Amino acid sequence: MSDAIYTKLAHPDQQRPEDVLATALDHYGDRIGLAMSFQIGGVVLLDMIHRIGRKVSVFSLDTGRLPEETYACADRIRQAYDIEIQWVFPRHQSVEDMIRAKGLYSFKDTIENRKQCCSIRKVEPLTRALGMFDAWITGRRTDQMVTRRELKVIEDDPVHPGKVKINPLVHWSSDQLWEYTHEHNVPYHQLYDEGYLSIGCECCTRSCKGETDERAGRWWWESPEHKECGLHISYRDGSGI
Ligand code: ADX
Ligand code: SF4
Repeated sequence: MSDAIYTKLAHPDQQRPEDVLATALDHYGDRIGLAMSFQIGGVVLLDMIHRIGRKVSVFSLDTGRLPEETYACADRIRQAYDIEIQWVFPRHQSVEDMIRAKGLYSFKDTIENRKQCCSIRKVEPLTRALGMFDAWITGRRTDQMVTRRELKVIEDDPVHPGKVKINPLVHWSSDQLWEYTHEHNVPYHQLYDEGYLSIGCECCTRSCKGETDERAGRWWWESPEHKECGLHISYRDGSGI
């Protein structure tokens, strides 16, 4: 952990997402990456980086089960911001072994199987992706769910010791994100227009019109305190499970 950046980002004047981004990009240079799932938060962050005249490496984890609309959105973003997206894929042997042993929908059977699938398709690829960086930027916010209430603008990554996570949107609401999106004409994922509030893998995400809980459509068969895929909370120490 580097104390200087923690001190800077703890300052109340540093809580605007654009300022957080500028400080983090100055501090880490090309050793910081933006983790992009093509949900509204990540794209707003990319737009902000673009508007403050900066560049960032963008990476995305292709689990192999993403909705077609996510790829369409990714390609629109790639063209609109003239960026290269570094796609990271799961290890094929691990996916094949899991599917041969447990079938295509094992994640529906037990929480352990769901975590195994997330671990193979998301967490291990993220660990490889983070080899390129000392810090990474996420679009997480405190108001998204119970497991994110304590989130800070900067934190030590509990899953990847030695890495730092920057969460510039931590204090923003969903309404603020949409205001920004409309005001700046930010391209957004088309599934939002079909009632989706949060978007992950196609088979683990559904539309949830009328819901107030942003995560209601993710792993809807599980209770809220389980709804973390392991990217942000370590399964090993049992937190959040
Ligand atoms: S998840 O852990 O439940 O999947 P969520 O969908 O809320 O997370 O996204 C939170 C943040 O995690 C995103 O803003 C993004 O930074 C990162 N993230 C989630 N999924 C991906 C992905 N497939 N590729 C890259 N980053 C991702
Ligand atoms: Fe597997 Fe579903 Fe996790 Fe995607 S969200 S990695 S399909 S369990």
